[in-house]
Amino acid sequence: MVIDTKKILIISGSARKKGDGYKITQSFIEKLRGGNNFEWEYLYLNDYEIKGCIGCKVCIRKNEESCPLKDDLLNIVNRLNEADGFIFTSPVYSLAVTSQMKAFIDRTNYLLHRPTLIGKPTIVISTTDLAGTKGVIKYLRHIIITLGMRYTGGLGVKMGAYKNNETYKQKTEQKIEKLALAFKTSMDAGNQQRPFFRQALTFKGWQTRMAVTKDKNPYDYAYWSERGWMDADYFYPTTIKWPTKIITSLLKKRLTKVMKEGFIR
Ligand SMILES: Cc1cc2nc3c(=O)[nH]c(=O)nc-3n(C[C@H](O)[C@H](O)[C@H](O)COP(=O)(O)O)c2cc1C
Repeated sequence: MVIDTKKILIISGSARKKGDGYKITQSFIEKLRGGNNFEWEYLYLNDYEIKGCIGCKVCIRKNEESCPLKDDLLNIVNRLNEADGFIFTSPVYSLAVTSQMKAFIDRTNYLLHRPTLIGKPTIVISTTDLAGTKGVIKYLRHIIITLGMRYTGGLGVKMGAYKNNETYKQKTEQKIEKLALAFKTSMDAGNQQRPFFRQALTFKGWQTRMAVTKDKNPYDYAYWSERGWMDADYFYPTTIKWPTKIITSLLKKRLTKVMKEGFIR
């Protein structure tokens, strides 16, 4: 019997290999493990050279291979493409993601324009001493949805309370359990689940952008056209609820007007 193993990649923005994020992620993995054919791999961004983006936009206007920065970025992206699901994890540094995570997101900006990880279930785990996980989760959720992945939930953990307060710890463990169940359900449902409102809305926003900027960004436009995305409701055939359809088509109209007035370049 062939067992279909699914690969989960944990993309960590922490430089501490056995730190707080690792501890919470391991608890998540333990809750998920029973009976599942999942394979885990940690990718610590800090182990790689990811130079800060210099803003030339060559990856967007031409292609990612033409990026003048030579480092590990494209090798990391190849590893992303091989995975079936993801955990993005970052500690809060000065109320935001770490610089390692931010550099990685900036350098993969072209993937927001030309998504390759469509429908892959993804969760976020963020740890902190006291504050800031809400902002980090919100930010990463936005990025994940724009990358076309399936955002499946997020968890912020205050590590002081987790270590010193038994009630908080127990509540957190219950939340991890819930998140593990949601992730497992999403992994079982596959890569073509019906998009939720925010996913459908984001798709229409980018579709509009591609149409308006097609002469300036022909590489992006060709990517979208070749895949049949320019006339689609979403990245893959699916049913969109009619209220979502109405709202997203109104957004498209409005956005097209605003973008044509010069609010995009
Ligand atoms: C440079 C730096 C900045 C930090 N900024 C914050 C912060 O703004 N708010 C906070 O509550 N904790 C902050 N922390 C604490 C970390 O978020 C916290 O210890 C986290 O759980 C570490 O996770 P890790 O062990 O997985 O790296 C900061 C820590 C460092 C080293």
